[in-house]
Amino acid sequence: MEIIRTVSRLSEAVDAARAKGCSIGLVPTMGALHAGHRSLVERARAENDIVVVSVFVNPTQFNNADDLRTYPRTEEADTALLEACGVDYAFIPSVSEIYPEPDTRVFDLGPVAEVMEGAMRPGHFNGVAQIVSKLFALAKPTRAYFGEKDFQQIAVIRRMVELEGFDLEIVPCPIVREADGLALSSRNVRLSPEARAIAPQIHRILEESVAIKAQGKGPREVASLTEAAINATEGLEAEYYQIVDARTMQPIDSWEEAGDCGAAGCVTVYCGGVRLIDNIKY
Ligand code: PAJ
Repeated sequence: MEIIRTVSRLSEAVDAARAKGCSIGLVPTMGALHAGHRSLVERARAENDIVVVSVFVNPTQFNNADDLRTYPRTEEADTALLEACGVDYAFIPSVSEIYPEPDTRVFDLGPVAEVMEGAMRPGHFNGVAQIVSKLFALAKPTRAYFGEKDFQQIAVIRRMVELEGFDLEIVPCPIVREADGLALSSRNVRLSPEARAIAPQIHRILEESVAIKAQGKGPREVASLTEAAINATEGLEAEYYQIVDARTMQPIDSWEEAGDCGAAGCVTVYCGGVRLIDNIKY
């Protein structure tokens, strides 16, 4: 595995691979890699000739300076994991390498970016669109891999791809969970032992909500019962729980309203001061 720190070296490497007719799989990450990230890398490894994984804590998508400052950074462990997965190129640039000048681009992301995380974290998705569009332009992937843990992010990236006209395939990958149901996240290391013990209740309540749907209740009622169940759990506080069309991210009033991709329940919960996100398909 080669560690690449410059844009020029990355271009050289991917241009050489493309010239030989190789397919390129890209996995964008912010590091502090865990088994969730690893599942994306393994899928990319299985489906492409060349695998590029980027590790870059993108400042433009953080709307909270403390969150950016305290974001876990574990480069040595990350490169060891990527090497063990058989990755060809680990792209680990500095901030000035990616943003020699401030990125002032504003993407017309539309309704998918206006709800849920978009409403709670102003500017977040524009920052995601900035970095992912740069990575796509640089790595020229055939396929790019994203986790369904960040369900809305995938919809936003699809919209960005449509706006920019990138010719590539977005591959959504299932959520990887701990044995007790907690979705793996780089932020889980911030949970105190007490909060860590409570956090699996989130997934348990989401699974229960699927059973509530089976009793014949509509999406609005399931959403409000689910949010109430979260808030009734000591140590958990829901910021939102919404049941949306899995493609458009817009809340639905009936199950039939969801398109071919179905419905998803998306949640953000504070657990011991740590902001966790999760979702479930109905
Ligand atoms: P990061 O949070 O590091 O996540 C990188 C990728 O790993 C994302 O596609 C995310 O959905 C996926 N992922 C994280 N936890 C997962 C889990 N438990 N199961 C499956 N997949 C999981 O998301 C970002 O970084 C950034 O916004 C990025 C796209 C890299 C742009 O900066």
